[in-house]
Amino acid sequence: MSEKYILELENITKTFPGVKALDNIQLKVRKGTIHALMGENGAGKSTLMKIIFGIYTPDQGRIKYKGQEIKITGSKDALSRGISMIHQELSPVPQMTVAENIFLGREAITAFGWVDNKKMVEDTQKLFESLKIEIDPKAKMIDLSIASTQIVEIATAISYNADLIIMDEPTSAITDKEVEHLFDIIESLKAKGVSIIYISHKMDEIFRICDEITIFRDGQYVGTKSANELDQESLIQMMVGREIKQVFHKDKAEIGEVVLSVTNMSRKGKFSDISFEVRKGEILGISGLMGAGRTEVIESIFGIHPPDSGEIQINGSKVKIRSPRDAIKHKIGLLTEDRKLTGAFLPISIRDNMIISSIDNFLYKSGFIKGKLVDEMCSMFVERLSIKTPGLNQLIMNLSGGNQQKVLLARWLLNNPDILILDEPTRGVDVGAKSEIHKLMSRLAQTGKAIIMISSELPEVLGMSDRVVVMHEGFKKGELSRDEANQEKIMEMAYS
Ligand SMILES: Nc1ncnc2c1ncn2[C@@H]1O[C@H](COP(=O)(O)OP(=O)(O)OP(=O)(O)O)[C@@H](O)[C@H]1O
Ligand SMILES: [Mg+2]
Repeated sequence: MSEKYILELENITKTFPGVKALDNIQLKVRKGTIHALMGENGAGKSTLMKIIFGIYTPDQGRIKYKGQEIKITGSKDALSRGISMIHQELSPVPQMTVAENIFLGREAITAFGWVDNKKMVEDTQKLFESLKIEIDPKAKMIDLSIASTQIVEIATAISYNADLIIMDEPTSAITDKEVEHLFDIIESLKAKGVSIIYISHKMDEIFRICDEITIFRDGQYVGTKSANELDQESLIQMMVGREIKQVFHKDKAEIGEVVLSVTNMSRKGKFSDISFEVRKGEILGISGLMGAGRTEVIESIFGIHPPDSGEIQINGSKVKIRSPRDAIKHKIGLLTEDRKLTGAFLPISIRDNMIISSIDNFLYKSGFIKGKLVDEMCSMFVERLSIKTPGLNQLIMNLSGGNQQKVLLARWLLNNPDILILDEPTRGVDVGAKSEIHKLMSRLAQTGKAIIMISSELPEVLGMSDRVVVMHEGFKKGELSRDEANQEKIMEMAYS
């Protein structure tokens, strides 16, 4: 008789300095099923996935794969056994092409022993055709958007023809349309008997595609249930051990005069003729599909890529923003969608990461740092945003993905800008922390800040915005007030 389970993990423990990431946990994945792994930020999900994929060695515990107890010695070993992984943190080699990235470490070789670029491009083309992906195999990774990068990562994991695919937050950077596409791919993999471990903080995804759900809390195993035994509320209850309602905290704020206005702004090949304004106390949502140009627009406002034409006014005066430094001088803050750009992967402490943009506020006249004040402020944000860390000295690269996001948000809260631009502020953040972030945004608006929020989650856009700008392929398609906006209207504008 064939084995019921493809993977059985027992009594796995993994400790990092100061952190017990996994404490005697178990996980059993049935063959040909989609198994969700759920838990708050820092619960230990990615750590366990890295153990299965051979990146970490557990301190103790047993791994049974296809009925046999095994030791996984590294990623190569995992791949050769038929286990592949979509990583939570995307790490392409930026200067290489898409095809080179996909075949990294298993390059096609010509009869003369050279790397066979032509064949790799052809194979990538075939792979993309079979998955209905429209990305140029010869494009450099550095030129791709973060969404396309994630799609390449997904395709790479699938190209190994694995029996077990780990998907650690595969949809964090892609929008609804691509999510649907991924789900089609997942269904067809399942039909072929492939097993999938699926991690996501998006509840609706979990209930749509998963057969079983295992829940971790603080590195411990809470339980495994069949998906139809659970609903959102009971799942959240198991994850956080208390009740959280998934509502959006939107308090009424007084909306004042225009703080930022953008008129006829264009950047060649990215967006054209964009105009909008944001007022004091207002949360402006920007909605649209992948490639709509939302991130590009705010990158221009923040001086990362200045626009070719158009005008930006702050408090009624025309300004020229040539660099992020200029933007910060004008009291603009930007939380980027790409954590890597903001330094989340550097060996820098949480403390330094938080104060890096507001260091001037923490200096004595003599130039010395007000150490105590820094620690007080940073600790306050650690607590308020429930950042899971043994201390302020922890390196940000050692935090779980969602907790890195919270540290970067704290950086901008400490900087206290007048105009706060948030690009996907709750990406990869768990339900509890998400509602904390929403509360904070709401409170900031009440204190007179102007907030621009890009979000690919429609409920978040609808729940938090006073007004919504919808973009499509580099153009502004329309603007809706909070009362006018609904899912259908936004979708209609975003798609055509
Ligand atoms: N290399 C490391 N060094 C030190 N601590 C680590 C390291 N990797 C993970 N941790 C810690 O282990 C714990 C579990 O982290 P993990 O990344 O597994 O969480 P997660 O469940 O994937 O969270 P998220 O939903 O935010 O991705 C966290 O407290 C994290 O800070
Ligand atoms: Mg993780």
